[in-house]
Amino acid sequence: MIVTTAQLYKVAYSKFAVGAYNINNMEQCLGLFRGNVQSRAPFIIQLSKGARKYADKRMLEAIIRTAEGMFPEAIFAVHLDHGDEEACYDCIASGFYSSVMIDASQEPFEKNVAITKRVVDKAHAKGISVEAELGMLGGVEEDIKVDEGHACLTNPDEAVEFIKQTKCDSLAAAIGTSHGAYKFKGQQSLHFEVIEGIRDKVKKAGLPPTPIVMHGSSSVPKSEVERINAAGGKLDPSARGVNEEEYLPAAKLGVTKVNIDTDGRLVWTRVHREFFRDHPEQFDFRPPGKIFVEEYANFIAHKNEKLGSAGKLDEIRTSLKKVA
Ligand code: G3H
Ligand code: 13P
Ligand code: ZN
Repeated sequence: MIVTTAQLYKVAYSKFAVGAYNINNMEQCLGLFRGNVQSRAPFIIQLSKGARKYADKRMLEAIIRTAEGMFPEAIFAVHLDHGDEEACYDCIASGFYSSVMIDASQEPFEKNVAITKRVVDKAHAKGISVEAELGMLGGVEEDIKVDEGHACLTNPDEAVEFIKQTKCDSLAAAIGTSHGAYKFKGQQSLHFEVIEGIRDKVKKAGLPPTPIVMHGSSSVPKSEVERINAAGGKLDPSARGVNEEEYLPAAKLGVTKVNIDTDGRLVWTRVHREFFRDHPEQFDFRPPGKIFVEEYANFIAHKNEKLGSAGKLDEIRTSLKKVA
């Protein structure tokens, strides 16, 4: 059942984080639903502009609606990841999306506010919530590459002003992570003081609690990188990500949505590289596809344990019934 992102946040805020997983194809969609139902977790499916172009937005909507029918127990929201204004308006008009992200974080503060406000007005008129970004994550997104020198953490005072002026529903904050497989050099840790600062200052300003979104949350397991390289890959062995043990402490401070894409891509790459290394005579893609769906489901269930969302499906269902 597709629900609003706000309904998930209401139950999760300050208790656990909801996993927001990017999908691009049928195999990911199938594994995602299996893994969430298996671990009894609510979840967010997110579609990037790149995914909507790759598979066609109509194809993605069709496979998600089909999966919804195949897994009647599943409770999830559908979200546009890293949208510009055009993509946000398209998703708001479609009637399929629970929430959109407007990412104008590369713009100066005032311009980011103005763009975000325009999207919030249009989205709220249709009951759709808006995630906006302040601060700059390092790493690579579809059209934007930010090198580490230009990445900057979110300033909690600016965050309060931004939320006040834009009325966004959740805030993607830069708390030390970056997109992709190469997140940290040296000691790896989230900037908990920034998360805490935003939470406390929002409260002091008399604003309602604002869920914080963590982008770039993949953990980039060393074992995956090693297995990919042992099967012919050439990933930099220094690749590293977020410590999974930090998801839940961050969630208790208000990180309510945790975005994970890269780790799923690593599972896909490892399964397919190993399969074709071990079966060089094969050219049927369904056997490795089947292994991938199963491994991806297990991966999702594992992530949900770390996020604290595993086992929360009934709590969400009860909360939805109370409102109805
Ligand atoms: O933050 C970016 C997500 O990992 C989506 O990546 O734009 O290559 O689909 P993509
Ligand atoms: P990762 O690259 O760490 O998986 O982050 C994904 C993301 O933030 C999607 O918006
Ligand atoms: Zn992101």
